[in-house]
Amino acid sequence: MRNFLLYSCLLITLTSYADDESLGRAKADSLCSLCHGPQGLAILPNAPNLAGQQPIYLNEQLKNYRSGKRPNEVMGVIAKNLTDSDISQLVEWYSSIKVTVELP
Ligand code: HEC
Repeated sequence: MRNFLLYSCLLITLTSYADDESLGRAKADSLCSLCHGPQGLAILPNAPNLAGQQPIYLNEQLKNYRSGKRPNEVMGVIAKNLTDSDISQLVEWYSSIKVTVELP
């Protein structure tokens, strides 16, 4: 019984991570990919890459855009409509993308 409960908790935890990531991906596809690219590598020359970025950093920046602490014409408007759970899901998605680095 104890093991069953442990496994259930683990399963629920794993499932909720997977959900956040795929929900975030769907939101990113429709709201962010135009500028930040479908893989989190920016298409717009003045937009930053988000793929593989630190989750704490992403979370903080999105909340700063939303509150106006980090003022930006474009991101301010976009972040204004994001809920806390939108932000967690988007952060989950972008930070889960694996990036590899090649030194010159
Ligand atoms: C119309 C283009 C556009 C769209 C759409 C867009 N962004 Fe941005 N984003 C930008 C630009 C431009 C910047 C740089 C702003 C600045 O200088 O602060 C930026 C910056 C950011 C940053 C800060 C990154 C850093 O390195 O500090 C985050 C995080 C971010 N965007 C997330 C998102 C998310 C999540 C979405 C979708 C909900 C989104 N953006 C949609 C253009 C866009």
